[in-house]
Amino acid sequence: MKRREFIKYCLAGGVAAGTGLFSYSWLNMKEEGAMRSVHSFANSTNIDGLSEDEANILYLASLAPSGHNTQPWVITIIEPKQWRIGSDRTRWLPAVDPDNREMILSIGTFLEHLSLAARIQGYEAVIDVIGENNFSSEIAEVRFIKKQMAVTVSDKVIQERRTVRKGFLNSEISGEDRRMLIGNNKQAVFYYPLNSQEGSYISQANLLANKKQANRVDAQMELADWIRWSDREASQHQNGLTPESMEMKGLVRWYAKHFLSKADVLSKSFREETIKLVEEQVHNGAGWLIVKSDGSTVEELINAGRLLESIWFRAHEKRIAFHPMTQVLEESPWQTELAQEIGLAGHIQFVVRIGYIKEHLKPVSLRMPISKILVNAPHGNHI
Ligand SMILES: Cc1cc2nc3c(=O)[nH]c(=O)nc-3n(C[C@H](O)[C@H](O)[C@H](O)COP(=O)(O)O)c2cc1C
Repeated sequence: MKRREFIKYCLAGGVAAGTGLFSYSWLNMKEEGAMRSVHSFANSTNIDGLSEDEANILYLASLAPSGHNTQPWVITIIEPKQWRIGSDRTRWLPAVDPDNREMILSIGTFLEHLSLAARIQGYEAVIDVIGENNFSSEIAEVRFIKKQMAVTVSDKVIQERRTVRKGFLNSEISGEDRRMLIGNNKQAVFYYPLNSQEGSYISQANLLANKKQANRVDAQMELADWIRWSDREASQHQNGLTPESMEMKGLVRWYAKHFLSKADVLSKSFREETIKLVEEQVHNGAGWLIVKSDGSTVEELINAGRLLESIWFRAHEKRIAFHPMTQVLEESPWQTELAQEIGLAGHIQFVVRIGYIKEHLKPVSLRMPISKILVNAPHGNHI
């Protein structure tokens, strides 16, 4: 099979697997998720300056989603139970996120995880947003106050949450589940079935935005920089996207891991196949979930990130999968037209394809060890 055809199979998710000469078991693939760093809740005190409780909180916070899985958060420990949260500029995405909007949204998802994880450990996390703008080196301060708080999301759910990109069922989200997802946030959270007028517009706009972005060399080069094709690159960086997180399967995953490289992401066939995959995705699933805010201050972006994450956890319990599709908010004219076209005032922060799935998939995206998130951690002390 030619290289071009392999790229096609890779992006389609491995329909070739098991149909050819090689069976999945023959390949003896590493178990999915094997690249994720392992955290021991029972013994997490081997980082100076962090108590066991704090290490557990930081670990669960680190499982938050972020654009291209850059994990932009860094933590400075000011004193016991008091942290400052900033971002690492080497993990910004200037080509697709020049305003750092998505970076701050990702810090928001991280803070939601942190707040829920604090409850699990018996603390209230008091969070002050201190960032003046999206480029501030210091974004928030957190104090952990010992207090019995209701645990609203279990550590199991926090560890199980993941992005799903393939295998959505097309059945409609039930009225009860829609109400559950939107909750008390009728001013900020909206749902449009794929077959509604707004839903069709969002699908079409997303496809066109993806086409435009696939032809932007700077955006493709940036994406290429964040794909860890080989296991060696994955364990070296422990962030970014992998064949596993892109849901490649069997033989194609094996091929991708061993033979694909940065240059392939920039090739014509990779871009063409990306578009075909997106075309399929925007017509599959139940509909689009939108999270918006009145403005885009640092605090509003953080709150939008927190809100998305709280809905994502609720969705998980109902086996509703989430796939953020952000290109429509990154490319013009759709980034300004979208709100108008679907009749929403304010700033749209997230566009997420959602749908039921048959069963939960194991989380597989990489995470850096928590010592790498700490700016004042002792050098090389990884847990
Ligand atoms: C602000 C933001 C934007 C994202 N945009 C996209 C996107 O456009 N396409 C996509 O497939 N995933 C997108 N994601 C999902 C991330 O790629 C995903 O969270 C990350 O790879 C970690 O994987 P996990 O969610 O399974 O832990 C986005 C996530 C965030 C927080």
